[in-house]
Amino acid sequence: MKGVIVTGASSGIGKAIALRFAKEGAFVALVARSEDKLKENVKEIEGLGGKAVYYTADVRDFKRAEEIVKDFHQKAERIDVLVNNAGATRDKFLIQMKEEDFSEIVDINLKGTFNFSRAVSRIMLRQKGGVIINISSVVGITGNPGQANYAASKAGIIAFTKSLAKELGSRNIRVVAVAPGFVETKMTESLPEDVKKAYLETIALRRFASPDDIAGVVAFLASDDASYISGQVIVVDGGMI
Ligand SMILES: NC(=O)c1ccc[n+]([C@@H]2O[C@H](COP(=O)([O-])OP(=O)(O)OC[C@H]3O[C@@H](n4cnc5c(N)ncnc54)[C@H](O)[C@@H]3O)[C@@H](O)[C@H]2O)c1
Repeated sequence: MKGVIVTGASSGIGKAIALRFAKEGAFVALVARSEDKLKENVKEIEGLGGKAVYYTADVRDFKRAEEIVKDFHQKAERIDVLVNNAGATRDKFLIQMKEEDFSEIVDINLKGTFNFSRAVSRIMLRQKGGVIINISSVVGITGNPGQANYAASKAGIIAFTKSLAKELGSRNIRVVAVAPGFVETKMTESLPEDVKKAYLETIALRRFASPDDIAGVVAFLASDDASYISGQVIVVDGGMI
């Protein structure tokens, strides 16, 4: 049974990814801050006949990442896939952006990705195999006004991914970034209708992505069908950029 860790698995894209892996027969560890939602998601997976456990954590906490990985490794015996999906926004123009708005977003999105990658790397090196999938964003490629902190963190994830792919590839560890466009989740629901409409007009497929649109690509990248893909950024944006 494949052992899979998904961070930010309480809602949105992370929840869809966790469910997808569970449906494919993996043992899934769901990581996020909200215990209530994690419990519900584990119940949902068990209701479908799948196997899952949850861990509450702030992904900024390096020691907690190590604890979780160690505990899950004991339970699952293997860690085949890590999906660094936890992420947050604090959109503001630079002139209004406080120091903590920048630090918090970089710490959650980029350092959180480092924390869990670092923790699983030792195990994957010993296994001589594994896949790390990092959820970036199209704005990490294009930039976006009002999102300098978020876009910088997502661009950092891309460089981090490419570096790890080169470091770990000789041990059969693949590292890939996924850059979604506009996905309908809690992160985007509070955007004003006129902003959403303007985004929609830039999307070739003229629809927003569902979390499942992203989960399907993540499942493919984790599978043997993608065994020769590493160090790449896979854009999943309906033809937006
Ligand atoms: N929604 C979009 O349009 C979109 C586009 C591109 C990329 N993304 C990325 O996809 C990922 C998932 O976002 P989503 O749209 O599903 O949003 P979401 O708000 O529904 O999910 C975010 C998840 O991250 C978790 N999280 C946030 N901060 C955390 C922390 N400090 N410690 C632990 N967990 C934390 C949340 O609890 C939640 O589970 C994020 O990395 C986001 O940047 C989203």
